[in-house]
Amino acid sequence: MKMNYPEGASPLSPDELKGLLIPTISNRDELDRWEQDNILKAIDWTDKVEPDEILSESFMKRLHKEMFGDVWGWAGEFRRSNKNIGVDWKDISVELKKLLDDVRRRLENDSSSVADSLSPDDMGARFHHRLVQIHLFPNGNGRHARLAADLLMEKLMGGRRFSWGGKNLSDEGECRSRYIDALRKADTGDYAALIEFVRS
Ligand SMILES: Nc1ncnc2c1ncn2[C@@H]1O[C@H](COP(=O)(O)OP(=O)(O)O)[C@@H](O)[C@H]1O
Ligand SMILES: [Mg+2]
Repeated sequence: MKMNYPEGASPLSPDELKGLLIPTISNRDELDRWEQDNILKAIDWTDKVEPDEILSESFMKRLHKEMFGDVWGWAGEFRRSNKNIGVDWKDISVELKKLLDDVRRRLENDSSSVADSLSPDDMGARFHHRLVQIHLFPNGNGRHARLAADLLMEKLMGGRRFSWGGKNLSDEGECRSRYIDALRKADTGDYAALIEFVRS
């Protein structure tokens, strides 16, 4: 299969490419279409998700499986190799647990009484950024972490899902550039651009 990756995407290893479940897919456009159909089904499935399931490792895996399980054999399984983005693969579970515990602590505390309290959008944007920065899976991390952040906003914070620039972020273009720039600023601890982006 011919793959050309947009900027900020994780290239797949030959082993990961072997996990493709649909042998007729021969190019990036066809792959995108299959993945998009699978993701639309997953979005329907999220209607049934209960708020108290979301902040767990098993849910993060399940969500990825629902989004990519028709297309990739390794859907829902954490990565077992290092990528240019992401923590060492052996640290994925520990880093994810720290993130989920932190979010839970913030949700449980009355926000006004916590010294380091954050606005809901700030929390959602940081959660998204840390999730893609840990980079749980061989691929699909951006799409998975966007839907995960939307579920946090909608089901745990009683808010609205994010709009993510209003365009398809998987395609190269102005919107994706703004998104990747905002994530790079967030890498340095400056979340302002990302917080603005998610509601644009
Ligand atoms: N500098 C960065 N810091 C944090 N996350 C990044 C950075 N660059 C890219 N990303 C994230 O990584 C994603 C690409 O990972 P990938 O697994 O290919 O996801 P997808 O296949 O859904 O696009 C981007 O969509 C973005 O969310
Ligand atoms: Mg990708």
